[in-house]
Amino acid sequence: MAAHRIRVSRTHPDPAVMTAAAELLRTGQLVAFPTETVYGLGANALDPQAVNLIYAAKGRPGWNPLIVHVADRSAAERLILAWPATAEPLIRRWWPGPLTLVLPRSPEVPDAVTAGLETVALRVPAHPIALALLSTSGLALAAPSANRSGEVSPTTAEHVAASLGDRIPLILDAGACEVGIESTVLDLSGPEPVLLRPGAVGREEIESLIGPVALPAAEGGDAVARRSPGMLQRHYSPAAQLVLYHAGADVSGSETVRRCQAAGGRVAALVRDSRPLGVDQVLIMPDSPTAYARELYATLHRLDESGIKLILAERPPEGPAWDAIRDRLMRAATPLPADQ
Ligand code: TXA
Ligand code: MG
Repeated sequence: MAAHRIRVSRTHPDPAVMTAAAELLRTGQLVAFPTETVYGLGANALDPQAVNLIYAAKGRPGWNPLIVHVADRSAAERLILAWPATAEPLIRRWWPGPLTLVLPRSPEVPDAVTAGLETVALRVPAHPIALALLSTSGLALAAPSANRSGEVSPTTAEHVAASLGDRIPLILDAGACEVGIESTVLDLSGPEPVLLRPGAVGREEIESLIGPVALPAAEGGDAVARRSPGMLQRHYSPAAQLVLYHAGADVSGSETVRRCQAAGGRVAALVRDSRPLGVDQVLIMPDSPTAYARELYATLHRLDESGIKLILAERPPEGPAWDAIRDRLMRAATPLPADQ
């Protein structure tokens, strides 16, 4: 099966295309669609067989639960047991938007979606095509990022086609995603809010609305990883090896670079303040975290396509504005050997 990739206008999609996509979803099939963060691989969230197709297409382990996308707050309501008090101000500010809330699930939500957890992750996406698909289908859509498990998330329909094109029937193509990295995931199901995954909505912004937000234990190991599988250490990885370095470090002299180049591999650097010598390609990344996020995955995809073997990424600045970028780079990276 090769996916149909259909170009749709962001704001005025052809209703016939949206109806056809909705029909696929209603009959238990998969549709890849754009959201403001990354492209999602959608299925009817209340149909366990359809949801299982997502796991099969991605090669995703069954214990890693999926985010459910809903059209609005009332569509969310039937999937949960109750709203915690903290949800209200967040929803008012960020739905639609790149904030996913983990809430106590209602019995309507199948185990296939939550991997057996008593909670469900919900968000209302802020993309006109995603919203049109939700309203045309009348469904809640389980949708993880539309890539094979462990790969860098897709921010264009081309990325989706390259990763899953032979496994799904339809990709709705509305161009590049604006945010460029996955949503912030906030767990409101326990006694205190816990930030499970940093994203475009920053921790400080959340705290300004609802007070202190906890971080998951840093060294939680497998137990934490399985409660919140996005916390798995290595994730979102390009095919190339990615290594982080400090702006002042002599990267070209490092053993990692020399070994790569000696074996004929080409090396690229993602830089902001530094201009490393001795690498094959230098890519100057944006100064603002928002612009950096928009470009990061597209850049990693491009470097993989061009056959680069080693990516040196300058460490982002300290401070909360860069939390999400730091998180994604650290998950993509292999630890730098002792010579750095
Ligand atoms: O921006 C996004 O969130 C994108 C777009 C498509 O919406 N989706 C996305 O989905 O990134 P995915 O499946 O790649 O990431 C979902 C994350 C995973 O880290 C998963 O472990 C976590 O959310 N998650 C899902 N349900 C959960 C739950 N009930 N409790 C804790 N974590 C949960
Ligand atoms: Mg993903």
